[in-house]
Amino acid sequence: MSARESSWWRSAVVYQVYPRSFADADGDGVGDLAGVTSRLGHIASLGADAVWLTPFQRSPQADHGYDVSDYLDVDPLFGTLGDFDTLVERAHDLGMRVIVDLVPNHCSSAHPLFQAALEAGPGSPERARFHFSPGRGDGGELPPNNWPSVFGGPAWSRVPETDGRPGEWYLHLYAPEQPDLNWRHPATHELLDGALRFWLDRGADGVRIDVAHGLFKAEGLPDLADPDIEPMRLRGNVMACDQEEVHEVYRRWRAIADGYVPERVLVGEVNLLPHRAARYVRPDELHQAFAFAFLAAPWDAEAWQVAATGLLDGAARTGSPVTWVVENHDVVRAPTRYGGGEHGLARARAALLTVLALPGSAYVYQGQELGLPEVDVPVEARQDPAWLRSGVTRDGARVPIPWRSDPAGSYGFSDGAPGATPWLPVPPPPEGTGRSGPHWGALSVAAQEDDPSSTLELARAAVQLRRRLHADGVLHPDDSATVRTTAAGLLEVERAGTLLAVNLGGAPSGLPEGELMLSSGPLARDGDLVLLPPDTAAWLRR
Ligand code: NOJ
Repeated sequence: MSARESSWWRSAVVYQVYPRSFADADGDGVGDLAGVTSRLGHIASLGADAVWLTPFQRSPQADHGYDVSDYLDVDPLFGTLGDFDTLVERAHDLGMRVIVDLVPNHCSSAHPLFQAALEAGPGSPERARFHFSPGRGDGGELPPNNWPSVFGGPAWSRVPETDGRPGEWYLHLYAPEQPDLNWRHPATHELLDGALRFWLDRGADGVRIDVAHGLFKAEGLPDLADPDIEPMRLRGNVMACDQEEVHEVYRRWRAIADGYVPERVLVGEVNLLPHRAARYVRPDELHQAFAFAFLAAPWDAEAWQVAATGLLDGAARTGSPVTWVVENHDVVRAPTRYGGGEHGLARARAALLTVLALPGSAYVYQGQELGLPEVDVPVEARQDPAWLRSGVTRDGARVPIPWRSDPAGSYGFSDGAPGATPWLPVPPPPEGTGRSGPHWGALSVAAQEDDPSSTLELARAAVQLRRRLHADGVLHPDDSATVRTTAAGLLEVERAGTLLAVNLGGAPSGLPEGELMLSSGPLARDGDLVLLPPDTAAWLRR
């Protein structure tokens, strides 16, 4: 087996932890690193190979950690550097790697560098670390260009100068509290190279790179011909992302990562169309880039076939395995996206089994293994900075995880602090409230454990089956796979000695030939014929 084939990340199942909402050890209503450590056993019980932690570095939390004010420290809200070390040690003891989030496109407006830039005024070397510019119009009252912020409104905010008068504007592709760093300034490279090394030195097994296609902007920051970009997607702003210079950074970071033993991995959030994203995973750049096609694909066999085939073809060309994603902290949870209720849940279960059967690595977002639906967070409780600017809220996928059936301590989220108020409200118990909504207690880890029909047990069985098939040499990380649609709505993935069939149509289908290993829901019978009901996936050995 070549070194390349043996690389753990090529077929890893990575569990994504959103620390604010995973487990709250200190009882302040916000999850923390000690909480994550206390619940690592749950992640290990799924058979995950690694844990990715979204940002826990020092931050005023304007975008819940994606606004970093010190790249080299843990925010007190989440604990200390010592807590991080303990987490890594415990994860390693359990045989799991740890991936840390790095946010290079922007920092926090509270970062000392931005504060110094405000202080130093126009034309200063401090301002050159960001994108400051005079406004347009007679009094400079208009933003320097027509770029929209991904979170809505203009991508520019104006600052008062030290004399109190309105002054220059600065660029923020996201919230005003997230000023974009100037990547044409050499010191920016030093700052982020240093942060990368810091976490890798500290024992992280890799980094996930936020807005990895961002960083560089077209020289002169020209206007967009069409500033009406898809909401919440940077990729429409062709002047502010996917610039050629960014690849130099990833070549350098790959060389840095390659200097470590054991192997460290770089995974990029490259939210571009697959043919452009493929350029970020050339052999001397990032190891992986998230494959987001399944986030946008509707419940439709053709759409899945096109998405999966395109991604697998790309992987065959680049040599970087597909990094499948069905859920993350930025999108509506799958059971809700797929129509909600029983159908939505059945489809989300089938989607989970499908991505686990495909070649490549799979990222599972906390709560996906419980089949959690999106929560309709009451308007007054919403926290997402995008909500106020654009009316889009990602809060519904970020509600604290239910660990126990009993509602005390937000269903065990604030373990040991029954009265703690969670940072986002958890759905109240349905009894007697007159409210309809998901029953958080019934969806909890405790309620699902040992119930063979639960989503949790399905997720465990699927990950463990996948592990066994790899260990037995049936599956290999670099397998190719053929994805086809057969009868109305049936999708088949043929890979090595296995076949995954998923019924995305409206009527039961005959189960293809083979020995059934696992199905995402009950199968049906018609006399001797075994049927695959709609919204169900089955994994067969051939
Ligand atoms: C992508 C992250 O996943 C998202 O949560 C964040 O708001 C933006 N990048 C900006 O950092």
